Amino acid sequence: MHNNQIFSEYSNENNKSRKWWHRRWFKFVCISLIIITIFAVILSVVLISVGVSSKKSENATTITISSSLTTIMKTTTTTLSQSTVTITLSTEATTITTTQNLGWINSSNMNYPRYRHTASILPGGKILVAGGLDDNTAINTVELYDPSIKTWTTTSNMIDKRWEHTASILINGKVLITGGYNNAALKSTELYDISKGTWRHTTSMNHARYYHTASVLTNGKVLVTGGSISGIPNSAELYDSSIETWTSTSNMYNGRYYHTASILTNGKVLVTGGYNTGGALNSTELYDSSVGTWKITGSMHNARYYHTASVLTNGKVLVTGGSNGSALKSVELYDPLLETWKITGSMHNARYYHTASVLINGKVLVTGGYDGGALDSAELYDPLTEIWTTVDNMKNRRWVHTASVLPNGQVLITCGYDNHTLDTNEIYNP
Ligand SMILES: *[C@@H]1O[C@H](CO)[C@@H](O)[C@H](O)[C@H]1NC(C)=O
Ligand SMILES: *[C@@H]1O[C@H](CO)[C@@H](O)[C@H](O)[C@H]1NC(C)=O
Ligand SMILES: *[C@@H]1O[C@H](CO)[C@@H](O)[C@H](O)[C@H]1NC(C)=O
Ligand SMILES: *[C@@H]1O[C@H](CO)[C@@H](O)[C@H](O)[C@H]1NC(C)=O
Repeated sequence: MHNNQIFSEYSNENNKSRKWWHRRWFKFVCISLIIITIFAVILSVVLISVGVSSKKSENATTITISSSLTTIMKTTTTTLSQSTVTITLSTEATTITTTQNLGWINSSNMNYPRYRHTASILPGGKILVAGGLDDNTAINTVELYDPSIKTWTTTSNMIDKRWEHTASILINGKVLITGGYNNAALKSTELYDISKGTWRHTTSMNHARYYHTASVLTNGKVLVTGGSISGIPNSAELYDSSIETWTSTSNMYNGRYYHTASILTNGKVLVTGGYNTGGALNSTELYDSSVGTWKITGSMHNARYYHTASVLTNGKVLVTGGSNGSALKSVELYDPLLETWKITGSMHNARYYHTASVLINGKVLVTGGYDGGALDSAELYDPLTEIWTTVDNMKNRRWVHTASVLPNGQVLITCGYDNHTLDTNEIYNP
């Protein structure tokens, strides 16, 4: 009897375990799980499609996910018809349509037309555009571009009108404006407080200068070099933002203006070419901020001024175009390890006073510039093949404009000049 009871309980248990998967609650759970899985798949398809569309987002791309949805719904229906639970799914397919174009798209105009201005990417991604010229008049108006709402708003004016000045983002988050020109070269410098939207003067430089360069060093100081100044265009000075003072540092070997300065990945500053009374320069020099001295490094193959210099993702420096009296197509690469220059692929268009931007994919976009007239052409350099490819022309011919790589990888081109001062902007969608 005791044994029988145990046996009967066991057989009962065995009977239960053989039949449990026939029960309604289990069917219901299974079906619910299937439905939840299906919805998760649909959701991820939609999210992936939206992700792809916001990255590519071009050419009036119509991303239709209806086919995948239909397939999923058919499966769902089949599964469901085998069960006692009926669920009605909306059979409306979702179609996502984007209207942006690949290449160039018009962007909202500036409030004040300008050229020979500055454009700086602020921490947070807004673009600060300051000063410049409107026809032949220096201006002090300042505007902010918000990429998330694609609009420009004016912010407080700089204290001084100026063009061919520099703008640098300091490590304390303020923006330092130096020098420039307004009837005469300027010594004055100003600080923009991003959070308050206000300007104030900070200590003036030792020398008035325009067509100079300003570079934020790895130690946070700002190195200003050369420029068109009376007397000593080979002078360089350092701004210490913590005590707001300027101190002279060693002079460059060559006086120069219309030159470039780039921070290398090793922290040194490479100054290239430019103009001096003798004409275009092929010389380049390196500033070592740890000892505060200059040394001559390899000479470029082409002397040039009004050119561009970009630090590539591989650490080499790409110098494009410029002028030696005539606009140049020639392009050179600096190798910081060997300290030598080599000729790389030439651009299709000779150009000076153009822009060069290193895109997120490592390619370099060159836009506009001047070659007997303002240019609307644009080209892409591939560092792997060392070849330039022509891309669509900009909507506007322009030179003495700016180009800024936005946080989303697009390139914002602002204003410039084409027989008159431009207020138009455009965006390149790579
Ligand atoms: C884009 O800008 C260009 C140059 O300013 C202008 O000619 C063209 O009409 C604009 N296109 C659109 C669609 O607004
Ligand atoms: C650089 O220019 C100087 C003259 O200014 C010239 O003597 C020298 O050969 C040039 N160097 C190169 C590499 O072209
Ligand atoms: C300017 O550069 C070009 C291309 O290298 C060269 O052919 C020309 O002689 C140079 N002109 C001057 C004035 O040096
Ligand atoms: C600008 O001026 C040049 C000559 O100075 C002329 O050839 C060109 O057509 C002008 N461009 C425009 C857009 O008016």
